[in-house]
Amino acid sequence: MSRFVQQQEIADPIVLEIIDRPDPVAGAGEVRVRVHAAGLNPVDWKIATHPQAAAAFGVTAPAGFGNDFAGVVDEVGDGVTGFAVGDRVFGSARGRAVADHIVLTPDVSNLAHTPEGLDDETAATLWIATRTADAALSAVGVTAGDTVLIGGAAGGVGVITVQLAVAAGATVIATASPANHEFLKGLGAIPVAYGDGLVEAVRAVAGDGVTAAIDLHGTDTAVAAAALGVPGERIATIAGGPTPPYGAIATGGAASAPDAPARIAQLIADGAVTLPIEASFPVERIDEAIALQRGGHVRGKVVVTL
Ligand SMILES: NC(=O)c1ccc[n+]([C@@H]2O[C@H](COP(=O)([O-])OP(=O)(O)OC[C@H]3O[C@@H](n4cnc5c(N)ncnc54)[C@H](OP(=O)(O)O)[C@@H]3O)[C@@H](O)[C@H]2O)c1
Repeated sequence: MSRFVQQQEIADPIVLEIIDRPDPVAGAGEVRVRVHAAGLNPVDWKIATHPQAAAAFGVTAPAGFGNDFAGVVDEVGDGVTGFAVGDRVFGSARGRAVADHIVLTPDVSNLAHTPEGLDDETAATLWIATRTADAALSAVGVTAGDTVLIGGAAGGVGVITVQLAVAAGATVIATASPANHEFLKGLGAIPVAYGDGLVEAVRAVAGDGVTAAIDLHGTDTAVAAAALGVPGERIATIAGGPTPPYGAIATGGAASAPDAPARIAQLIADGAVTLPIEASFPVERIDEAIALQRGGHVRGKVVVTL
């Protein structure tokens, strides 16, 4: 039998149960993955609590939970190329990642090989965050010489976005609560507090000014960037709705380069990029993991292990 985390209805509070189901089987063109860890993202609890969000992502009740996972291929159907039994993999299974086994039709949009040297818990946190960071950076075309304001920088997407912008040669000014400022300095960013006085705080550290901005929380950073003279076409948002203010670009993981998860996973395996796991919970304690993620102040990622 195979454990599967399930909710009977899309509702708040989220009521999850761990059910036992027969082992799923990989059909033609499919692989089965024995999942070792699932990384949580805000979209998981949004889907679980908002019927409209669930519908937008094609999730219907009774539903599973989670998206990002990592584990080992343990069954391969006829006709599959590129993956074999025993391969370590990480990927994406919308609304059903927290399970002992996942069956999917593998392609570059949902599965990649885990690089040697990268542990499963870290690999399990990568799919959405790497794709979204890649999309946000390319939306504004961050290059050496830019001074980029990144809002909401200590979260899962932010930690990667900051490091890739620094690696591209940009000066990075990053917003976070004060408890995360030393951490962001360690990633090469200049930290500032979000909230009242953001424009003045950025101006005080920006030297020659700000040339681009990425808002990873809502629209406050986008608004501040506009006040600092950044043109809309150099401001990206990922959580500011479909039409953010000042002509800023709304983007997201779907706009990423297809190789972003594999490419950034390799950087993490090489030690060039880091993505901390704030906490890891066994699947029996998934409610605690979700509550921590939902609190909105995670540094890096939260993981559930199976
Ligand atoms: N469009 C897409 O494809 C896409 C993809 C991924 C994520 N998203 C969305 O993007 C947002 C961030 O995702 P994530 O995975 O990085 O979330 P996360 O890991 O939960 O990170 C949340 C971060 O937000 C920061 N934060 C909290 N309140 C803030 C405020 N008022 N102003 C600025 N920052 C604040 C927190 O920093 P402190 O702890 O320092 O307060 C925390 O580090 C979520 O809304 C998510 O749904 C969209």
